[in-house]
Amino acid sequence: MWQQLPFCLVFVDWSFDDIYERGESNVKLWKKMLAAGVSASLVFSLAACGSGSDEVEGGDSDGKKVTLTYARGKDQTGATTKLIKAFEKKHPQIRVKFKEMPSDTGVSHDQYVTMFSGGSGEIDVFDLDVIWPAEFAQAGYLEPLDRYIQRDKIDLDQYVEGAVEAGNYNGQQWAMPKFMDAGLLFYRTDLVDKAPKTWDEMMEQAKKLTGKNGAKYGYLFQGKQYEGLVCNFVEFIGSCGGQVLDEQGKVAINSPETVKGLQKMAEIAKSDLVPGNVTAITEIETDAIYGEGQAVFDRQWPYHYAKMNEDGSKVKGKVAVAPLPAGDQGSVAALGGWVSGINKNSKHKKEAWEFIKFMTGPEGQKISAIDGGLAPTYIPLFEDSEVKSASPLFKDKNYVEGLKSAISRPVSPEYQKISDIIQVEVSKTLAGKQTPEAAVKSMEKKLQEVVK
Ligand code: GLC
Repeated sequence: MWQQLPFCLVFVDWSFDDIYERGESNVKLWKKMLAAGVSASLVFSLAACGSGSDEVEGGDSDGKKVTLTYARGKDQTGATTKLIKAFEKKHPQIRVKFKEMPSDTGVSHDQYVTMFSGGSGEIDVFDLDVIWPAEFAQAGYLEPLDRYIQRDKIDLDQYVEGAVEAGNYNGQQWAMPKFMDAGLLFYRTDLVDKAPKTWDEMMEQAKKLTGKNGAKYGYLFQGKQYEGLVCNFVEFIGSCGGQVLDEQGKVAINSPETVKGLQKMAEIAKSDLVPGNVTAITEIETDAIYGEGQAVFDRQWPYHYAKMNEDGSKVKGKVAVAPLPAGDQGSVAALGGWVSGINKNSKHKKEAWEFIKFMTGPEGQKISAIDGGLAPTYIPLFEDSEVKSASPLFKDKNYVEGLKSAISRPVSPEYQKISDIIQVEVSKTLAGKQTPEAAVKSMEKKLQEVVK
């Protein structure tokens, strides 16, 4: 049995102005906003899986100096090093070795599966993409965290509900929420007067502005055959009313709406607006090209804002953010983000938990927000003046707008198979090897074999 996060649009009526005008507790309002934006779509009723021991493990390291290995994807910002330093200062008995995994979430996923399925204890703590917990929990790779959370009285109500649920599977908490992602449109304030509202408006503006102020390209998106392509795909089809699965978890991809969304995506991919090698572009290349000042618009996650404002960036101080362009059914952002968990075979679970507690708690998330530009999941941080002033995105109405329409990818232990099917068929379409109609037919057939 499996479940999905329905691909639904979420409407939230609050804005930052409301927060201040209403005089309500900011924490309460953020909670309402973000919970509505994220958690309304999270439904879990998955098959039972082995939970392992209920005990909080002490590890074999009491009193001794312990070195933990913490793995996460390539850090584009340097916040991880700062976070580790801050943790080590507070916990002189624990050292943290940072193991940098590939930036491509799919490649990281496969490496983790190879390690964990072989019973490796090399990694103690690691960050999981929100699309992994169901699979990893079911496979027995993760230490359940409920007892640690209860023992240390962590109040999960202080966290964005949907982000908490992303680490929950079958009623157990397998990972702690670290940060949230939602696809956004970035634009150059030295070129663009008013952010475009629709795909067509964006293309029109991009066409006019290409060639100005060093902008060789009009638009950048992640077109390589990998997970980022799936995120872009759900945004395009969602903006036209298409969906992969319906609210009951049944395959619903073969619709005129999905065809329309994929057509728009293919039209942009084949246009002169994007680099000729757009089918090789991931977030890394997007950062590099946009940071060189070579594009007018791009689609990226929130950290990109911090990255583009770093010293050395040619667009420092010249970047603004808006909701992604709308199709005829509105603007849709894919919901992403990362949660942190403990390897079931870690020999240092007690210390691993201390690190997770710090990293996903107020201090750790504050570092990630300020130095990494990552959107907090710990709600009180949205009230923190340093977070607000270091990352204007977090008090920017447009950012909140972006979150409003976030849609989730299916939650399933079979998610990788679903993603692979989409990746292959969408890639073929962008490369002009099949029509959008043929692609959705083929995806329907293949998905039906996986989604029973
Ligand atoms: C970001 C998102 C993640 C998504 C990935 C795709 O890291 O947080 O959820 O799967 O991008 O490249």
